[in-house]
Amino acid sequence: FFARVELVPGDPILGLTEAYNADARDTKVNLGVGIYYDESGRIPVLRAVQQVERQLAEQSKPRGYLPIDGLPDYTRATRDLLFGARSPLVGEGRAVTTQTIGGSGALRVGAELLKKALPFARIAISNPSWENHRAVFGAVGFEVVDYTYFDAAAHGLDFDGMLADLAALEPGTVVLLHACCHNPTGADLTPAQWERVVALLHERGLFPFIDMAYQGFDRGIDEDALAIRLLADSPIRNFVVASSYSKSFSLYGERVGALTVVSDSADEARRVQSQVKRLIRANYSSPSTHGAALVAGVLNDPALRAQWEEELGQMRERIHALRAGLVERLAAHGAPQFGFIQRQAGMFSYSGLSRGQVERLRDEFGIYAVGTGRICVAALSAGNLDYVAKAVAAVS
Ligand code: LMR
Repeated sequence: FFARVELVPGDPILGLTEAYNADARDTKVNLGVGIYYDESGRIPVLRAVQQVERQLAEQSKPRGYLPIDGLPDYTRATRDLLFGARSPLVGEGRAVTTQTIGGSGALRVGAELLKKALPFARIAISNPSWENHRAVFGAVGFEVVDYTYFDAAAHGLDFDGMLADLAALEPGTVVLLHACCHNPTGADLTPAQWERVVALLHERGLFPFIDMAYQGFDRGIDEDALAIRLLADSPIRNFVVASSYSKSFSLYGERVGALTVVSDSADEARRVQSQVKRLIRANYSSPSTHGAALVAGVLNDPALRAQWEEELGQMRERIHALRAGLVERLAAHGAPQFGFIQRQAGMFSYSGLSRGQVERLRDEFGIYAVGTGRICVAALSAGNLDYVAKAVAAVS
């Protein structure tokens, strides 16, 4: 039956981790996948999370099924984190949050919902965007088009190009926007630029789909949610948010994400939610318990929440310091042209390295980066910073 099945290439990001794991060199560094590692090179288990984990272990609760749309304490807390606790839109019952299998699951369920509601719409994604966006939306039958986003020569946002392309889209087009810490470029919009984009989305009748996988990783929980807050305050009545706790709670493998759909009224929201639940039931039926219980346990306990915010702040500050350290070490090794890395936000930097240079980093130094030149700055540490800088300088 499978005789004609073709071999397809490995995933450009997760496939790198497989190659990295198989590499025997002890100097190897994985700058491929977007994971934050601490100073000792480990994925941190946050103290606030450990505390809830201990409580859960003591209670040893039965593992019944969660509701199709997830743990209510989790979805409520998620909605408040996205919109702020006193959002009028939330008060009107227009925003409904569903627990999903990671941020990717939120993208997929959101994509399926929109394909049903807007069967002839296209989706526009930034050029470049997260490698998997095209695949997720393509898989549910969307035609995916690009909008200009990055100016490779300036190593930053091409805002004029972005506005021009968005303005040329047909009304009704879904526009995927990264709320903060743009993946893969690290180039974000300023607050004033967000205001212009939101005004344009409204004028042109475009449908916003926000992807927020890094809330709190650039400037802060509320600051990084600016795009969502501006949309909520705008005359735009419908939009969708896919969000994730993989990074902000360091819970990657727990697959803790959420899909939030904003409707025109509480009644519309109920109808839309019935569709979301039907889509999930026909896919994975209902989400898993543990990760959501951890997040809800932290967010709904004021002391643990404060502790989490502090730990998140430490991760954020350390990434800023790593960016500065990398720029300084690169300059020390004779490569002063990488100053832009310090201006980029979040886990990633579009380093400007070519595919050939990325291959040399892997073959000669055991340093793994995405073929596009994306590096995960959050995988650096005092132990590998100089080694990486020296290698990058050598291939540049
Ligand atoms: C990344 O971009 O590296 C992360 O979002 C992990 C993933 O699933 O690709």
